Amino acid sequence: MDSSPAIRIAAARKIYGSGATTLTALDGVDLDIRPGTFVSIIGPSGCGKSTLLRLIASLEEPDDGDVEIFGVSPQAACAAKLVGFVPQSPALLPWLNVLQNVSLPHKINRGAEKRRPTAAAAVSNRPATDLTKLLHDVGLGEALHKLPSELSGGMQQRTAIVRALGLQPEVLLMDEPFSALDEFTREALQEQLLDLWDEIKTTVVFVTHSVTEAVRLSDTVVVMAPKPGRIVDVIDIDLPRPRSAEMIKTGDFHHYEDLIRDRLQAAWRSPELPTAA
Ligand SMILES: Nc1ncnc2c1ncn2[C@@H]1O[C@H](COP(=O)(O)OP(=O)(O)OP(=O)(O)O)[C@@H](O)[C@H]1O
Ligand SMILES: [Mg+2]
Repeated sequence: MDSSPAIRIAAARKIYGSGATTLTALDGVDLDIRPGTFVSIIGPSGCGKSTLLRLIASLEEPDDGDVEIFGVSPQAACAAKLVGFVPQSPALLPWLNVLQNVSLPHKINRGAEKRRPTAAAAVSNRPATDLTKLLHDVGLGEALHKLPSELSGGMQQRTAIVRALGLQPEVLLMDEPFSALDEFTREALQEQLLDLWDEIKTTVVFVTHSVTEAVRLSDTVVVMAPKPGRIVDVIDIDLPRPRSAEMIKTGDFHHYEDLIRDRLQAAWRSPELPTAA
């Protein structure tokens, strides 16, 4: 069995600004993510969660260190359509309706064959996603022909989620995708995401501020701390799946919630480390 990671981040450092305004958004970040696992990233605001996701999505480059997806650069992985990204703000094209927005990734770069760039990996051969059905599933059936300006924040966010899921990417990056949703819709979408993840066995990196959400969804929770942005804990969630609404009430589940809350509190209190000049 191929044990190489889906995502490898080694000694990654990202610095914004210069001189007196230098800010070390990430420093010494090492993380290997196994193929097909669900990994959540949690940490105080400003600790570099979105920055880390943008490095993986090839939207930014590290100032130091390396990021690889299936052994190639994030740019190569994105060009091969291996990566789906749900950004923290939905970034829909305002002149396209919901259906056109979610169909866009299929239309652009049509010639790019979707494949893992490693010789050993099998070419993905799944049937194409029925985008209209997926939109209905997330409660947007009535909104197919609406423009983004006619949607609520949560509806825009759901559109962005369908746009990313529709590609069935090998690596799915989600930056607080459910933060604009009410609790009921959020739980329903968590369920749908887990079903889909189970079906397509994709590797998910999921940023959240919700401890319960992180425990429910994840195989592994990565806790980050700020100044400089860094990983302070990697916690494996050893709970059986599927993780039902009932399981959330069990002592085992609460044990993980308490553990992560403790680590988060420590991350808040952690003294600032000297940052790079
Ligand atoms: N383009 C940029 N230019 C300058 N500073 C930036 C830029 N992007 C992010 N930062 C800074 O880097 C740090 C990390 O930002 P990032 O957006 O990654 O945090 P985050 O953990 O995602 O926070 P939140 O939970 O609020 O979304 C912050 O201090 C932020 O101000
Ligand atoms: Mg963020």
